[in-house]
Amino acid sequence: MKITIIGTGFVGVVSAAVYASFGHTVVGLDIDEKKVQALRNGKVPFYEPGLEELLLEQQKDGNLSFTTDYGEAVGGSDIVIIAVGTPSTDEGKANLSYLYAATESLASHLKEGVIVVVKSTVPPGTLDAVDDILKTHATARYDLASVPEFLREGSAVSDTLNPDRVVLGATNEKVFEVLEDLHSPLKAPIVKVTPESAQMGKYAANAYLATRITFINQIADLCEHNGADVQEVISVIGLDKRVGGHYWYPGFGYGGSCFPKDVKELAYYSRLVGEDQNLFNKVNELNNQRINRLLTAYGKKIGGWEGKQVAVLGLSFKPNTDDMREAPSTKVVPWVVEKGAEVHGFDPKALKSAEYFLQDTQIELHETIEAAVAGADVVIALIEWSEIVAFDYASTKEDKKQYFIDARNQFNPEKISKAGYEYLGVGRK
Ligand SMILES: NC(=O)c1ccc[n+]([C@@H]2O[C@H](COP(=O)([O-])OP(=O)(O)OC[C@H]3O[C@@H](n4cnc5c(N)ncnc54)[C@H](O)[C@@H]3O)[C@@H](O)[C@H]2O)c1
Repeated sequence: MKITIIGTGFVGVVSAAVYASFGHTVVGLDIDEKKVQALRNGKVPFYEPGLEELLLEQQKDGNLSFTTDYGEAVGGSDIVIIAVGTPSTDEGKANLSYLYAATESLASHLKEGVIVVVKSTVPPGTLDAVDDILKTHATARYDLASVPEFLREGSAVSDTLNPDRVVLGATNEKVFEVLEDLHSPLKAPIVKVTPESAQMGKYAANAYLATRITFINQIADLCEHNGADVQEVISVIGLDKRVGGHYWYPGFGYGGSCFPKDVKELAYYSRLVGEDQNLFNKVNELNNQRINRLLTAYGKKIGGWEGKQVAVLGLSFKPNTDDMREAPSTKVVPWVVEKGAEVHGFDPKALKSAEYFLQDTQIELHETIEAAVAGADVVIALIEWSEIVAFDYASTKEDKKQYFIDARNQFNPEKISKAGYEYLGVGRK
């Protein structure tokens, strides 16, 4: 089959490379000429383990190409997949202007019988608006489907090749058949639902995980009042089969390009349909307050931030990515700088992203952990990159009082204390 992917951002490139690896002819299209040029040269414009290798392999095999030309990309295509960005406004409304613009651009090039798939995360009902645009601009007969994406940055290639499930949202059997066939190389359960259930399912999945993080953060805050240790509490609740011991991350709150946006969009959607008193408003609010709350509390423990030399380790929003969209560092660094601290930063892959995301903030970026930590009064281990967790902090210990803030409870407190630092975790003894 010929498959077109509209939008070669994070989701688009990964999907394009994976569908090409199934033996289809895949064309990726983007309006960003620089991005397309880089991709044509086999360069992925962001860091994602294993992606560049897969991309090069598929380009060499002739299965995968990139263009900015809608006619070339969409013409003759059996399936057109839209994966453009859907960022949210401050109040949480999903900005669908890229989706609508892409739909308008592709409409006149569709071949008879094509399936147009929306992969971008969109509110329920969006397919009707896409249909309205296509009705106005397309002459070919087409079908519509919603196939939300569940990959995680940092493990996107393996997530796409080994998904927990593939969700197909459509209204007719023929579309289900074609999309089932497309995903058949993946040994994963296929969930066939309506487009609205697919869209709600995507928001519900992210909102649940964000709520789980917010829930354990609330428990961690209570532990601070009574000497309980949230990690011990997790071991207590985790053995309950209804709860499970996985995916507990007490810390500075959730970040990244998806959770904050999707929770905000779900809260906005809830208000829009008259559900003003909804959980998602509160989850969003608690998460937004989190960094200010924790840094204020740590400030009291360390004798104030003013004049302190602070090493911030881990600038991306999670390990194994250079994506800094809504990364905790983008809030933590300006916050401590504003309180009068001098900040040194390190990240294994996101130093280039940091130059952009922290361009208005006073921070000195370093290529090594040693250089970032040298002379620090306070080390903030924000993201658990393996090299940050494995580093020997005793080797850089100075002859002065030093604090170690473990923002995601990823370190052994005893080991850090032995290295000479006063250990400060989240909700820990
Ligand atoms: N990043 C993730 O981990 C992830 C995971 C699951 C779902 N999603 C969802 O997938 C969608 C895409 O996310 P992303 O992170 O890949 O976004 P992104 O911002 O990385 O990429 C979007 C791309 O679309 C391109 N684009 C914009 N308008 C266009 C147009 N009219 N025609 C062609 N290309 C156009 C942009 O130039 C950009 O390259 C979003 O809805 C997001 O919520 C993302």
